[in-house]
Amino acid sequence: MIFTVAIDGPAAAGKGTISRAVAEAFGFAHLDTGALYRAVGVKGGDPVLAAQSLTAEDLARDDLRTLGAGQAASRVAVNPEVRAALLAFQRRFARRDGGAVLDGRDIGTVICPEAEVKLFVTASAQVRAQRRWLELGGEAGERPLAGVLAEVRERDDRDMNRADAPLRPAADAVMIDTSELTAEAAIARAVAVVRARLAVMPRG
Ligand code: DC
Repeated sequence: MIFTVAIDGPAAAGKGTISRAVAEAFGFAHLDTGALYRAVGVKGGDPVLAAQSLTAEDLARDDLRTLGAGQAASRVAVNPEVRAALLAFQRRFARRDGGAVLDGRDIGTVICPEAEVKLFVTASAQVRAQRRWLELGGEAGERPLAGVLAEVRERDDRDMNRADAPLRPAADAVMIDTSELTAEAAIARAVAVVRARLAVMPRG
């Protein structure tokens, strides 16, 4: 069965948590597309060449989740040639047999406009910055909350205002605002949307 769940939204809105849970609930494969851009960003050198020659090792680096890697990813992601180099792999993954969940910024709009389910996961910038800050150790960490908030805003601005594949909800996306939801509640909403869509899939 071909069945794609496209999950888009800004940094730290909860896309990753929701995507992994949806993939697990339905036995679908999951691709975190931000990791592709992060791997290109941290590899250094010519980002187009890096995108054209990404390896499994690049994707297994343990520094991909840092704030710096997120910023580097957001910067290389404005380059249309970088985006083009990563497109075919993401499209193939989306339409693989057995179902796929992809999370990113442009999955429902560019990578897979035909996705059976499109979710747009958001939360206020304050809430997202607070979550990132806690992940980085909170009071015991090295980063002040104000600095993390500034980086979240900077990344939102770049991701939403770039010319090629900017972050925006697809017209037919279901919105999930996680600002005041627990992870469990957000996951339950996403699972319910997917279940309802699966129920009306033609058999065969
Ligand atoms: O989801 P993330 O924080 O890992 O993404 C890192 C950056 O990569 C994000 O700020 C913009 C870019 N990105 C993108 O342009 N398109 C995607 N589908 C996924 C990520």
